[in-house]
Amino acid sequence: MQAILVGFMGSGKTTVGQLLAQQLNVPYHDLDDIIVAMAGKSIQQIFDENGEAAFRQLEHIALARSLAQEGILGTGGGTPIQAANFSLLQKSNVPVILLDVLPETIMKRLKDDTGRPLAKELGLSGLVDLKSQRDDRYEQVSNYRIATDKLTPIEIVKILKRQL
Ligand code: S3P
Repeated sequence: MQAILVGFMGSGKTTVGQLLAQQLNVPYHDLDDIIVAMAGKSIQQIFDENGEAAFRQLEHIALARSLAQEGILGTGGGTPIQAANFSLLQKSNVPVILLDVLPETIMKRLKDDTGRPLAKELGLSGLVDLKSQRDDRYEQVSNYRIATDKLTPIEIVKILKRQL
């Protein structure tokens, strides 16, 4: 991988990752999509039918497999929180970029979200609590942090291309 994007749900990892990959002319890999392909069902179905722990196992396998690939990797919001993933990311020698986002922005972006099991389960205020529990981990695992709230995806990619 040339770069790995981490950050909370709604931080723009997929949008920014796809745009960055396009501009660098490399493939974009989305960890959630890889997990869906591995399981043959949606993230929501994995959570409903197999539970979060099963999802986290698939997520770890998907991460371990992806690191050797070429391109940009967009992780899931919970990926770096698992200890085994945290150490894989730290050892990877790939720049890890944190797309940081304010709770207000998350609330706005995830207000009508139906595809994320944790958003459904926790509600908006629960998501904000979850983010504050995770923030230290995101900071620790990343080599660069970009506060994305006031930037467009194009502006974020411009900054990233200077850093990579
Ligand atoms: C999760 C984030 C989701 C997805 C799953 C769990 C999390 O990814 O992996 O629903 O624990 O924060 P996005 O950050 O791409 O929404």
